[in-house]
Amino acid sequence: NLFVYQTVSTCWCAATVTPVLGMVAARWKHSLPDLTYDYGALEPHINAEIMQLHHSKHHATYVNNLNVTEEKYQEALAKGDVTAQVSLQPALRFNGGGHINHTIFWTNLSPNGGGEPQGELAAAINRDFGSFQALKDKMSAATVAVQGSGWGWLGFDKESGKLRITACPNQDPLQGTTGLVPLLGIDVWEHAYYLQYKNVRPDYVKAIWNVINWENVSERLQAAKK
Ligand SMILES: *[C@@H]1O[C@H](CO)[C@@H](O)[C@H](O)[C@H]1NC(C)=O
Ligand SMILES: *[C@@H]1O[C@H](CO)[C@@H](O)[C@H](O)[C@H]1NC(C)=O
Ligand SMILES: *[C@@H]1O[C@H](CO)[C@@H](O)[C@H](O)[C@H]1NC(C)=O
Ligand SMILES: [Fe+2]
Repeated sequence: NLFVYQTVSTCWCAATVTPVLGMVAARWKHSLPDLTYDYGALEPHINAEIMQLHHSKHHATYVNNLNVTEEKYQEALAKGDVTAQVSLQPALRFNGGGHINHTIFWTNLSPNGGGEPQGELAAAINRDFGSFQALKDKMSAATVAVQGSGWGWLGFDKESGKLRITACPNQDPLQGTTGLVPLLGIDVWEHAYYLQYKNVRPDYVKAIWNVINWENVSERLQAAKK
């Protein structure tokens, strides 16, 4: 399963390479997942133009490039060309990471989203952050502060059994904490908000809470605990 990260002591960000190489070994073909809602369904918080470009152009490009790179990687494997294998790994990590990140992101959003998390997820948030508001404040601050392109994540740390926030700048994938299972990601590449919010990233991050699919985050927490 693409989305189950069995990482150990490395930063989740760096660990994207492991499932990507696993994907290659399994010779999986990758395709762009359909959204379960219309491009305009998240308005006014994220407009249709952004959603359409983000999904049908940006995400699709990661998938295409992943397919192409994977084919080259298969050739290099078949030839026993280790140099070529090594040189393809950054492209695998980048495009495979982009595919995984966005596939999670779309399910983290919903036109019926917003509100507050319920049940076990709410209890875990209160335990680990003090309150839902405190989680939002902390994750917003960390996400807004990402230098350049990157992501803010709420993840589950299997070792401690706790929720953790981590922010990963694209340029610095090695920075972060220990292996986390991604539950909720906020994409703060400019392609995710610029057409609507221009350079005002904090307004985008503030608005996105209105469309977070907490049921999906809960499902991911349940799956991560198994
Ligand atoms: C991935 O590559 C395969 C084969 O190259 C292709 O059939 C498929 O359409 C590609 N997927 C996307 C989303 O481009
Ligand atoms: C995917 O997310 C990881 C973790 O935040 C990040 O390090 C990586 O740069 C992201 N990749 C893309 C292409 O968005
Ligand atoms: C939520 O995420 C899970 C993966 O844990 C996925 O299988 C499911 O379809 C998602 N649900 C919704 C409502 O998006
Ligand atoms: Fe993106």
